[in-house]
Amino acid sequence: MEGITNFIFRRVYLKHFGGIDLSYTPFIVANQTYSFKTKEKHELIPYDERTVPQILSNNPDAFIHAAGYMKDLGYKEVNLNLGCPSPTVSGRGRGAGMLKDIEKLDAFLDRVFSTEGLPAVSVKTRAGVEDPAEVNAIAKLYKKYPFDKIIVHPRLLKDYYKGCVRRDCFRVFYENFEPGKLVFNGDINTAEDAAGIAWEFPGVDKIMTGRGLLSDPLLPEKIRAAGADNTSAPADAPVDAPSDAPADAAERIFAFLDELWDEYAAYLSGEADVLAKMKELWSYLYRSFDDGDSILRAVRKARTKRDYIRCCREHRSF
Ligand SMILES: Cc1cc2nc3c(=O)[nH]c(=O)nc-3n(C[C@H](O)[C@H](O)[C@H](O)COP(=O)(O)O)c2cc1C
Repeated sequence: MEGITNFIFRRVYLKHFGGIDLSYTPFIVANQTYSFKTKEKHELIPYDERTVPQILSNNPDAFIHAAGYMKDLGYKEVNLNLGCPSPTVSGRGRGAGMLKDIEKLDAFLDRVFSTEGLPAVSVKTRAGVEDPAEVNAIAKLYKKYPFDKIIVHPRLLKDYYKGCVRRDCFRVFYENFEPGKLVFNGDINTAEDAAGIAWEFPGVDKIMTGRGLLSDPLLPEKIRAAGADNTSAPADAPVDAPSDAPADAAERIFAFLDELWDEYAAYLSGEADVLAKMKELWSYLYRSFDDGDSILRAVRKARTKRDYIRCCREHRSF
């Protein structure tokens, strides 16, 4: 997630929590300059083989260059972003904006998939732009190409992140593809949500979670432990992890947050920047705590590291 689940977040997260098979970078822009911003280069420094870089581009040559660069760094899969609804992205015909012109997208994909030597290419896609019926043409188009995985966020561009996910749109993909190729994404906030998807779409054994994981960092472990994801993978909480009883869970979250602060402090230019990152995270994380609203209010008021540590300490239990 752009601005949030950057390489520092993901590295610290993966150290503290289990249940994750793959972790996707926020989108990395590939444009005609064939160069990356420093922040994006840092994003690409390999540190964990579960990482998949995501590329945002509507220029096939730039995409091919970026994918080749990432392959040279050791990445086996790259992911094409066809889901970002932000006006600054989609308005310029990138992200979900590429779904507006299926012929142009076809030409883009044709060029990419006819290039030899690229890593596996997966896609993260919305189901359409304005009208749910668009999903049929989109699924038909993707059938032409050997995507490694198709991650579907079944909302339309116009939905942004609001309203219910459109399970009927996901069903169109389900009826057109091997279920093992599909990944369901959207509004999976509890193990029960994951179980609902697993039940409704047997054979879909991969789910992606974004905001749910930020709200409850233990979510992937809970999903795995409940066997709620159609996989036969064993629960893989870190061996030394304590139980997920609420007090232990809170301790684990705070241990993660402590290390995250330190890592951000070593990378960012000052306390205010670190604090802003932690505030952003807390705007999701507060939901894990019974008194989450009051923690969030206190965290938002914090002006210094001291204030922040004080309000965390006061709430170091569920
Ligand atoms: C702040 C924010 C940043 C996001 N950045 C990205 C991104 O860089 N790449 C991407 O594929 N999706 C991005 N997304 C979308 C999420 O990956 C996900 O598809 C969406 O939030 C729905 O899933 P969820 O309900 O599990 O969060 C972003 C979403 C939010 C709210």
